[in-house]
Amino acid sequence: MDKGNTALILNPFLEGMRGAGAQVELFYTRKLNIKPCTGEFDCWIKTPGECYQKDDMQMLLPRIREADIMVFATPVYVDGVTGPMKNLIDRMIPCMQPFFELRDGHCRHPLREGTESSKTVLVSNCGFWEVDNFDPLVLHMKAFCKNASSEFAGALLRPHGEGMSVMADMGKSLDDIFEAAKEAGHQLVEDGEMSAETLSTISRELMPMEMYVQRVNQYFQQTLAAVGKD
Ligand SMILES: Cc1cc2nc3c(=O)[nH]c(=O)nc-3n(C[C@H](O)[C@H](O)[C@H](O)COP(=O)(O)O)c2cc1C
Repeated sequence: MDKGNTALILNPFLEGMRGAGAQVELFYTRKLNIKPCTGEFDCWIKTPGECYQKDDMQMLLPRIREADIMVFATPVYVDGVTGPMKNLIDRMIPCMQPFFELRDGHCRHPLREGTESSKTVLVSNCGFWEVDNFDPLVLHMKAFCKNASSEFAGALLRPHGEGMSVMADMGKSLDDIFEAAKEAGHQLVEDGEMSAETLSTISRELMPMEMYVQRVNQYFQQTLAAVGKD
């Protein structure tokens, strides 16, 4: 949650948004009780706009419906969002109507009345070194945005996220990255968009790939040895 690698980017980003005047509410999926969607479609048929499951989505959905910006912050888990985050996203379908409409020649669901169209931002970090490890996740979020009539406003992506603590241990400054995350939050609220230059600073190389691989393997060797499992 607030101690993880994702939070290292998310926290300054939200600080930048608040600094630009946004009202920000932060929820950790891990602390929320959000049951998986069971596909009954009650939220489309029996009780339009309302899921039959009574859990924290009852508190969250009204906030989602009126939010100007939704920020999804998640580490990459097996090339996608975490399980609890996916549950949350699936449980947003009460915000849509069951009907199909054609938008740009593609089948979509119209938004239900009372749901404002919003912007969506992705904040993510991953363990592997290359930035292309975010490709499936970014594609998913963009597809989600098209279905949810939300504008995909960009992504703050931190590859080799584990390297941030390595760099800190080596006394190397990551201030430019955290400043850029803050600046991205500021830009989003002030200008409605984030600059490509700012986003690329957040994703900048921390160390050469070979060095990162060696550090990670060394860490696991030492940790396994420390618990007698080498
Ligand atoms: C179940 C699981 C699956 C993961 N899958 C990937 C993956 O597909 N690609 C990748 O680069 N990192 C993967 N990782 C590594 C995490 O993205 C990485 O450790 C990240 O820094 C964790 O962020 P956090 O500290 O915010 O939890 C995975 C980690 C876990 C626990």
